[in-house]
Amino acid sequence: MPIQLELFPVPEPPPGGGFLSALRLKRETVPDWNVYPFNIPAVRTLDELPLHRAVTFLVGENGSGKSTLLEALAVRLGHSAEGGSRNYRFSTRDTHSVLCDFLTVVRDGRAAGDRETDGFFLRAESFYPLMSQVEAYETDAPVPFGEWGGRPPHDRSHGEAFLTLLTNRLRGHGVYLFDEPEAALSVQRQLAVLTHLHALVRQRSQLVIATHSPILLAYPDALIYECGPDGLHPVAYDDTDACRLTRTFLHDPTRLMDQLFAEDEP
Ligand SMILES: Nc1ncnc2c1ncn2[C@@H]1O[C@H](COP(=O)(O)OP(=O)(O)OP(=O)(O)O)[C@@H](O)[C@H]1O
Ligand SMILES: [Mg+2]
Repeated sequence: MPIQLELFPVPEPPPGGGFLSALRLKRETVPDWNVYPFNIPAVRTLDELPLHRAVTFLVGENGSGKSTLLEALAVRLGHSAEGGSRNYRFSTRDTHSVLCDFLTVVRDGRAAGDRETDGFFLRAESFYPLMSQVEAYETDAPVPFGEWGGRPPHDRSHGEAFLTLLTNRLRGHGVYLFDEPEAALSVQRQLAVLTHLHALVRQRSQLVIATHSPILLAYPDALIYECGPDGLHPVAYDDTDACRLTRTFLHDPTRLMDQLFAEDEP
């Protein structure tokens, strides 16, 4: 009797790419814990940081080390420190830290042979020079700006160019690293970004995102790490400062401002 294959359906892989399972600091090779970047608590206490197969967020105060970590991961994966896809080679100023030389990216053994086929690193501060680089590359491409909506990104606003990147350039089945992607975006567009993130996750992508946005952080089932004075710790969405403080503020802005301004009164 023939075997009825439909009785043994192949299980759907869980959403996300799951290419990278963790980030590990080779602690034994660190030359000096008192100098940047090793003196930042998020690095000083780092050993092995598991990554979510779909979306991992880094949150924390300004200066807590989010960009330092993200940039080191990006360089480790072969990106230029100033951003772009892996084949972008440009540098306006060599400022990246040496942390990448002390990191190991742990790949999921089950995903061996199924490596990501796309990737992009978006730095917080260098969107403009990155888009200039896109123009330089794309002008000579067989179909100029074919993956950028047909026209140069500098012909769009900052937010429009970022959304074009998300909707046109990113192909899925990739590892995407974004540093404060909300910088360019209205609240409405941040909501739109959530749907694009979801589409990328369904296209088997993995994302690591540093953000201050309580909207982006709401992406369901993500792993959120807070960079704080004690190092990196997983935190629940409702307990992030971004969420808590925004909630308190929106609940009663006048009262909060009265409190803030009273602290400044002579
Ligand atoms: N090249 C550098 N040399 C020395 N210290 C640095 C250097 N770059 C950053 N730092 C310091 O390292 C710390 C972490 O910086 P980082 O940019 O990673 O913070 P961040 O969490 O991304 O902050 P933000 O939310 O403001 O983007 C900060 O105290 C910063 O002043
Ligand atoms: Mg930063």
